[in-house]
Amino acid sequence: MRLLQLVQRRAGIARRKAQRLIEQGEVRLDGQTLTNPFLEVDPETVRELEVRGRRVPLEPREPAVYKLYKPAGMLSSLYDPKHPNTVGRLLQRRGLGGQGLAIAGRLDRDAEGLLLLTNDGELVNFLTHPRYEVEKVYHVVIPRLLPYRHVYEMFRKMQRGVRDGGEVLRIRRGRIVERSRNRTVLELVLTEGKKHEVKRLIKHFKLPLERLVRVGHGPVALGKLRPGELKRLTTPERRALEALKKRLGSPSSGAR
Ligand code: URA
Repeated sequence: MRLLQLVQRRAGIARRKAQRLIEQGEVRLDGQTLTNPFLEVDPETVRELEVRGRRVPLEPREPAVYKLYKPAGMLSSLYDPKHPNTVGRLLQRRGLGGQGLAIAGRLDRDAEGLLLLTNDGELVNFLTHPRYEVEKVYHVVIPRLLPYRHVYEMFRKMQRGVRDGGEVLRIRRGRIVERSRNRTVLELVLTEGKKHEVKRLIKHFKLPLERLVRVGHGPVALGKLRPGELKRLTTPERRALEALKKRLGSPSSGAR
C-alpha cells in the first residue's frame, strides 16, 4: 500500500490533504519522517503512525453501514451503463462513490424500501446468506378487501411452504397491517432471500400486488426514512446488528 493510502484510510483524510501533509513533513511512520506520498509501505508491519504530531490508531476504522430508502424504479445495482437510475449513481451524488459500499440484499426495480449498504464484506454475507436466517420484513399492498379467513389460511400455507419453479418458498410469519374496503396490507417475514420470493408467493395465491415495500432487515427498520433518503446507521442500530451477528453467526448457534 502507498503511504498516501495508509494516511488517507487510517486518519480519514482526503487524498489531496494527505498528500500535502506528507510532502510538508507532517507524517511520521515508526518515528521516521517520510515525505514521499507514493512510498510503498506494508500496513501489517507499521507500529506507529503520527500525523501533525498526533498518533493515529492503527486498527482498521469502524466499517460503515448505511440504510437507504430505495424508491420504486431505481435499480439495486452499483453500476449499469444502460440505466441512469441506480443505487450507485445515488451514492456518487452523495459523495459516497468509490468507498467500497456493497448492497446487502437487492430489491427488484419496482419494489421499494430498505436497502442496507456497507463496506464490510462479512456483514454483507451475514445479512444475505440464507443459513443465517436473518429476517426481512415486507409490506405488500393488495388492492382489494381480503376476508380474514382467506388471509389466515394463506399465511398457514405460506408457513408450511409453497412449491414454485422447483423451489419451496416459505414465510416465517405473517400479519395483517391494514384492511379497508378496497385494500389489504399484509406483513410477511422471510429469511431466505430467493429471487422474487414475495411476488411469487402472492402470485401463487392469484392475488394482485400493488406495492412491495421492505420495511425491515434484521434489527434495522426503514422507520421514517423517505424515498431516496440515505442515513448512516445510528449507534443503537449498529449495536443491534452486531448483537444479532454474534447470536446467529456463532458456530454454536446451529445457523450454519
Ligand atoms: N421479493 C420480491 O419478490 N422482490 C423483492 O424485491 C424482494 C423480495
